Amino acid sequence: MCGIVGYTGKKQAYPIILKGLKRLEYRGYDSSGVALLKNGILNVYKKKGKVVELEESLLGETLEATIGIGHTRWATHGEPSDKNAHPHTSANGNIAMIHNGIIENYALIKSDLLKKGYSFKSETDTEVLLNFIEDIQKNNNCSIEEALRIALKRVTGAYCILLIEKNNPDTIIAARKGSPLVIGIGKGEHFLASDASPIIEYTKEVVYVNDYELAIVKPDELILKNLGNETITPYITKLDMELAAIEKGGYEHFMLKEIFEQPSTIFDCLRGRLNSKESLIKMSGVDDNIEQILKADRILIIACGTSWHAGLVAEYIIEELCRIPVEVEYASEFRYRNPIVNKGDVIIAISQSGETADTLVALEKAKENGAFIFGVVNAVGSSIARISNAGAYTHAGPEIGVASTKAFTGQLVVLMMTALVVARHKKSISEDRYNALLVELEQVPEKVEAILKNADQIKTIAEKYKTANDFLFLGRGYNFPIALEGALKLKEISYIHAEGYPAAEMKHGPIALVDESLPVVFIATKDPYHEKIISNMQEIKARKGKIISIISEGDTISPDLSNDYFCIPIADELIAPLLTVIPLQLLSYYVGIAKGIDVDKPRNLAKSVTVE
Ligand code: AGP
Ligand code: GLU
Repeated sequence: MCGIVGYTGKKQAYPIILKGLKRLEYRGYDSSGVALLKNGILNVYKKKGKVVELEESLLGETLEATIGIGHTRWATHGEPSDKNAHPHTSANGNIAMIHNGIIENYALIKSDLLKKGYSFKSETDTEVLLNFIEDIQKNNNCSIEEALRIALKRVTGAYCILLIEKNNPDTIIAARKGSPLVIGIGKGEHFLASDASPIIEYTKEVVYVNDYELAIVKPDELILKNLGNETITPYITKLDMELAAIEKGGYEHFMLKEIFEQPSTIFDCLRGRLNSKESLIKMSGVDDNIEQILKADRILIIACGTSWHAGLVAEYIIEELCRIPVEVEYASEFRYRNPIVNKGDVIIAISQSGETADTLVALEKAKENGAFIFGVVNAVGSSIARISNAGAYTHAGPEIGVASTKAFTGQLVVLMMTALVVARHKKSISEDRYNALLVELEQVPEKVEAILKNADQIKTIAEKYKTANDFLFLGRGYNFPIALEGALKLKEISYIHAEGYPAAEMKHGPIALVDESLPVVFIATKDPYHEKIISNMQEIKARKGKIISIISEGDTISPDLSNDYFCIPIADELIAPLLTVIPLQLLSYYVGIAKGIDVDKPRNLAKSVTVE
């Protein structure tokens, strides 16, 4: 994963790089570092820990340079430490390099280099690639650009690399495969970064570099080439993003801001698409490809983590409304298990970042087999958005907190609308039901708003249970994936072990965990099997478990069975997940805060998982 930033121009590079690294810290925060080049001298500073620790260690240093590169790491090879932090310098000290990704055949290359007498200062795969480049340059007496091209043809894995060279005073050389890279075009300056957030305050003109492309970047010149050394014309895109969208806007944490943004992000997702008065949903990605979708024998959904949970909800919704069989796959499993994918199969890919390596590679594989990829993506212009044949953006805006919140509700809205469009074409839904669901969808933003007004109730519940060692989350039907999501959120943000289960499945094992110290969160909104979940609550109560329930307004039975409960507005069972997930997001947030955890950057995680 990791975030990378580069600058070459006339301004001081360090402040630009530092600010950029802070914006990219969501991608990794095990260590950070910068390399600055001035008058042929390459200065490298690096530090274990978050970017602020690097910043503090450099207070008082003269860090003048108009070219530099910076990195915030999510360790894959070698523990988080000063020595494993990037940038790395090559054996002869001439090149500094940063890297996002994994060089899979590093061990082989390393053993060759060791035989040639190279030694290594770190345990990273990155340093191996760097010395490999240096070695090629030395042996072929060629430019670094040429050496890089040769090296990249020989490595397997994923990379986005930036490098600077002592005797190349104003040039950054970059290359990517599998890990993202955006180049911002300024006046007499260029900015390079993993995403547009470090760039946006300087320029809105950007170039998204594609896989197997190499960029030679000088203050006044951007040359793009492929690995065959042919020049490519850069395709300039205008960023449609404001600086405010990537700032905290008065909230203590991005996660809280993003939870509270949901009434407006859901509204934005519906806006211009859904009109209940005209009984209409307009989604060009679906409308333009409706025949393709209708003729599919089945739909495959591929995703990871929270996006996978959105896929599970979609499975229930699509099967119910469209009567098309759906299978939901973890991308990481799908890509390695020789799955059956035929020409014309429809695959829905769900991803907030659009850069998740497991999902991306799974899609590439499916596309090779002729599958039609429909992307449900949040990050505009991201790799998954670009590899998709069609799709619909979730329009949730940049999500920076590591725990996915507003992107999830955006995914649910897009998937629900997609199912409704398909079902109407297929005539597998009655007009009455279709219209009723449109009206319900339009009401979601205000219902979410109403839930958020009572956030303090969840805060009180969080305080009460923050010392628990384990949590169980139980739900049925459309709320079963929400139980999984509630458990994942709590694990990520509070480090409390949590499991999500279908409420009825609990008696086949997890019930053995229940005693007076175990909080059990029931998602028990009014639906056709409400009585069943009430029985499940009785079973937990009989064993002295502590029941926290998320229930529908007007439910008179659940409060008596619960130690604590939280009411949400009445909604159709297909819509309920959009509401029931909100108190669970808040619960994890408040428990995390109560435990003093950095909820935006919880340990061991990164926002964008661009490595396997
Ligand atoms: C969510 O809270 C997680 N941090 C994580 O599971 C995430 O949903 C997963 O890595 C998938 O990411 P994507 O949606 O960007 O592909
Ligand atoms: N594989 C490299 C390392 O472990 C880069 C990881 C990253 O993308 O941050 O240092």
